[in-house]
Amino acid sequence: MSHAILAIDQGTTSSRALLVSPDGTIHASAQEEFPQLYPAEGQVEHDPEAIWQSVLRTSQEVMEAAKNAGRTVVGVGITNQRETIVLWDKETGKPLHNAIVWQDRRTGGFCQALRDEGKEEMVRERTGLLLDPYFSASKLTWLLDEVPGAREAAEAGKLMAGTIDTWLLYKLSGGRSFLTDATNACRTCLFNLETQEWDRGLLELFRIPEGLLPQVTDSAADFGSCDRAHFGTPLPVLSMVGDQQAAAVGQACFTPGDIKSTYGTGCFVLVNTGEEIKRSNNKLLSTVAYRLDGKPTYSVEGSIFIAGAAVQWLRDELRLLENASETAERAEKAKADADVIMVPAFAGMGAPHWSPDARAAVFGMTRATGPDELARAALEGVVYQTMDLIDAMRADGLACDALSVDGGMAANDWFVQRLSDILALPVDRPAALETTALGAAYLGFLQAGIFLSLDDIAQQVSRDHRFEPQMSAEDRDRRLRRWKACVEAVLSVAA
Ligand code: G3P
Repeated sequence: MSHAILAIDQGTTSSRALLVSPDGTIHASAQEEFPQLYPAEGQVEHDPEAIWQSVLRTSQEVMEAAKNAGRTVVGVGITNQRETIVLWDKETGKPLHNAIVWQDRRTGGFCQALRDEGKEEMVRERTGLLLDPYFSASKLTWLLDEVPGAREAAEAGKLMAGTIDTWLLYKLSGGRSFLTDATNACRTCLFNLETQEWDRGLLELFRIPEGLLPQVTDSAADFGSCDRAHFGTPLPVLSMVGDQQAAAVGQACFTPGDIKSTYGTGCFVLVNTGEEIKRSNNKLLSTVAYRLDGKPTYSVEGSIFIAGAAVQWLRDELRLLENASETAERAEKAKADADVIMVPAFAGMGAPHWSPDARAAVFGMTRATGPDELARAALEGVVYQTMDLIDAMRADGLACDALSVDGGMAANDWFVQRLSDILALPVDRPAALETTALGAAYLGFLQAGIFLSLDDIAQQVSRDHRFEPQMSAEDRDRRLRRWKACVEAVLSVAA
């Protein structure tokens, strides 16, 4: 059968469009990077129009390829960077400001003030999240307070706000659909995990008028259709899902205990907890893994803000690398006795420390330290942070006997082997590393009736390789002790 889905994967640094068939084959793809804007220290913004244009161009290119290959595109699946927030004018569709990106720390002081007022417990109870600038709510408050006239316009019902899924759907549908799905809504810090609705108390706490926000639906649903002008046909939008939850679907993490770790700009470990909202005592998040037929399946998530971004920093700011894939070879060549440790807190630290003011540091450099040692330290910094998440999960009583990885860095054999060594666990790599786009496409096939159940998705997933730990316990313990001391130092400088 030649049926396919146009999967749109709108990530933190690039937008991608992929033509996916039900067996997971990717027949065509297009990708565009777009500018990262850093208006001040700790601030990160995106131009919503630049995001939209990159999505439209890449999607049109892929639709052209589908036409040339005679494939029937049954609809669109959207997956996206989460938490990033856009505020726009209902009438003109024009954004009032750049999108404030999930990595942006400008609302750290506001979140701290709410914590000082004793609000964190209520926020945790209702949202499964913490009071941290990572989530959308405080960013939206900032936009309403700081953009001249925004609050008055919002109260008069003249504005719309949404995460990137909502913004893209609004643009794709020519302004007709204003919806989000539960996996995106639950990252705003305004959505009640239990009732599956926007929470009145939280809207009051963050001073957000409810009419500003989209209606929340399942992850596979009728999201309306694309304006005919975009692709020459009113393609239906069949699925919307946050990128980390999409990766969990793409890895078929459907049974409680199933766990995956995705290495993109950041790293996000999700463990399925089924119908239960499992509350962490170790600063992990409770979040919606996916919602189908009105029924949410939950997960516990550990979020690390910098993974691939550390390698990008070596490439783009220090210019020590030509491209990211060099890191495996460089790490291999790094001097064995060099004990360089990078704590990549470029955007503060996420789980389990939650320190928005932490900043990155490199320890243990000598005159002999060069690009090879720094490349290895960047990869290892991501490995050690994953270990901290797994430790927190275990402390919460979640078993972890093996880890499934995906995302760009998972293609790096050196990295995955080191992950297995430090975690002292088998690490599985699936045959397809594009699990985020596949997850969105598979949910689309479910909505289209081409897949009948999650079992049909699970059948598409196969393992490429299992990495087994090879490092001695002594070596591993020594490295982890040093890592912990370096993290303590970074946190104490921030305090
Ligand atoms: O929560 C942020 C996350 O959705 C960003 O994902 O793939 O850009 O690292 P990624």
